Amino acid sequence: KNRLRTFARTVLVLVLGSSTFVIWHSHDQRHPGEQLPHDSKLPTVVVLGNGWGSTAFLKGLENEGYNVVVISPRNYFLFTPLLPSVTVGTLAARSIVEPTRFLTRHLKRKVEVYEGEVTEVDPTKKTVRFVDNSPIKGAIDGHEISYDYLVYAVGAENNTFGIKGVKDHACFLKEIPDAETVRQRLMDCVESANFAGQSQEEIDRLLSFVVVGGGPTGVEYAGELHDFLTEDLTNWYPDLAGRIKITLIEALPNVLPMFSKQLIEYTNNTFKENKIDIRTKTMVKEVKDKVIIAQNENKELVEFPYGLLVWATGNTARPVTRDLMNRLPAEQNSRRGLLVDDHLRLQGAEGIFAIGDCTATAYAPTAQAASQQGHYLSRVFAQLTKKHALLKELEEAKASNADPARLDSLANAVIRASNIRPFHYSHQGSLAYIGSDKAIADLPMMSGNLAVGGFATYYFWRSAYLSQLFSLRNRILVATDWAKCKVLGRDVSRE
Ligand code: FAD
Ligand code: NAI
Repeated sequence: KNRLRTFARTVLVLVLGSSTFVIWHSHDQRHPGEQLPHDSKLPTVVVLGNGWGSTAFLKGLENEGYNVVVISPRNYFLFTPLLPSVTVGTLAARSIVEPTRFLTRHLKRKVEVYEGEVTEVDPTKKTVRFVDNSPIKGAIDGHEISYDYLVYAVGAENNTFGIKGVKDHACFLKEIPDAETVRQRLMDCVESANFAGQSQEEIDRLLSFVVVGGGPTGVEYAGELHDFLTEDLTNWYPDLAGRIKITLIEALPNVLPMFSKQLIEYTNNTFKENKIDIRTKTMVKEVKDKVIIAQNENKELVEFPYGLLVWATGNTARPVTRDLMNRLPAEQNSRRGLLVDDHLRLQGAEGIFAIGDCTATAYAPTAQAASQQGHYLSRVFAQLTKKHALLKELEEAKASNADPARLDSLANAVIRASNIRPFHYSHQGSLAYIGSDKAIADLPMMSGNLAVGGFATYYFWRSAYLSQLFSLRNRILVATDWAKCKVLGRDVSRE
């Protein structure tokens, strides 16, 4: 027994020691004071947003040759695939965010980060106007900045299709405050249902949780909600838990239309087992403060009383993006988003690249696509730097009457450096969590597609996202949250 204890202690000391060393080491790499300062002779690259597209760009960028400025209403990157887990407390919000200053600490030249919302991009003057949208403001709450290059990656906003009442009564799921609101509202419904003397009808309404939109966001949220219900609420609210009803409303004939047929079927069956009511071919028409009005496949109006409504019906362009489109009416005529060429240059403007959910492309608006575009763009900038350096060298060589062979070789090198390959999207597969420790995955294989679902896929889903998290700190926090959730359960207090 003693030997076993000594062995366990040694392992613990080794694990703690090595993790402390790794964390210390990664912390030690933060050297903002040692980065080169901005240089007024260099071109300025203004990056709008710090989501998937921008962060992938910043991670891959070699910025000695540029002054880089990032402007975004939040000062951190958010790992959206794990956001549904925050709505029920499986993960803490801080475990899936990373400050942009931390993520850019490795770059040679300092990156200026401004927390602000861009309200206007002028592609003619090459300026960007932004405002301080936080509750606390200083004497200045708006500013204009000029750019030589603009990386436009502001994402998209939730689409309500202008349906009456959605903005007033529904919760969304895009940002950290959204997930926190959903969590608070859910616990509020449960506590209000538990309130002394509550009527039976009102208890049933308060415990009706409705998700509108059967895309991956809606399905993943419904899955997480089911886990919270069966693993935690059942223990702490035994009299109420059995009355909780989860309904998923989808306008199309199927949920998850982007997944293969057998995975749609697998999700339907899993939801059936988990008593999640899927209402397909049902289109929401109006949302009142306690009831949703929808049209079913027989064109009849049906009512869904609700306590919590999560609205997940996809994306639409942000006002700043629509404003930019209006400034380029001849070239920007798509309602889905910004049109770019095959090098991700904004059509109709000079010096602007647009990536991610704000663009209208042939592939789905996903983190996968946005991050590949961001990586591609960082390589484009590396090539532009090389081209500018060669051009300078060529000019100097010409001025010093260098021999023709050297001039020729430099001119050829400039042509090679100018030949930038177009962006190519490579689909790595689709993954989604569907609740009760099951996930689904469509994975492209050489000979076609591998469609898998179940527990093993769930562990694959977890390990894939754990490895994709942008920092060691995030990986440790997420792994610890998962372990805490298994051992201690989720917290049911309403913060
Ligand atoms: P975002 O990541 O949304 O970033 C936009 C940035 O712009 C943000 O930093 C925002 O603060 C900033 N911004 C907004 N307005 C302004 C403004 N006016 N001025 C300046 N900055 C502004 N995709 C997957 O591939 N796999 C998944 O598993 C997955 N899961 C998801 C789960 C959820 C809950 C959600 C909501 C999305 C999920 N997605 C997933 C989709 C994925 O998150 C998006 O496709 C991706 O975030 C797009 O990247 P982006 O850089 O274009 O935009
Ligand atoms: P989505 O656009 O994929 O799905 C929205 C769904 O809402 C559609 O199926 C639509 O038919 C339905 N809908 C629209 N209006 C409706 C109405 N009035 N009544 C009922 N249903 C209505 O949106 P989602 O899920 O928010 O995803 C956005 C993007 O993010 C997608 O590209 C998606 O692939 C990506 N994403 C990927 C994830 C993953 O890979 N695991 C997870 C979450 C999002």
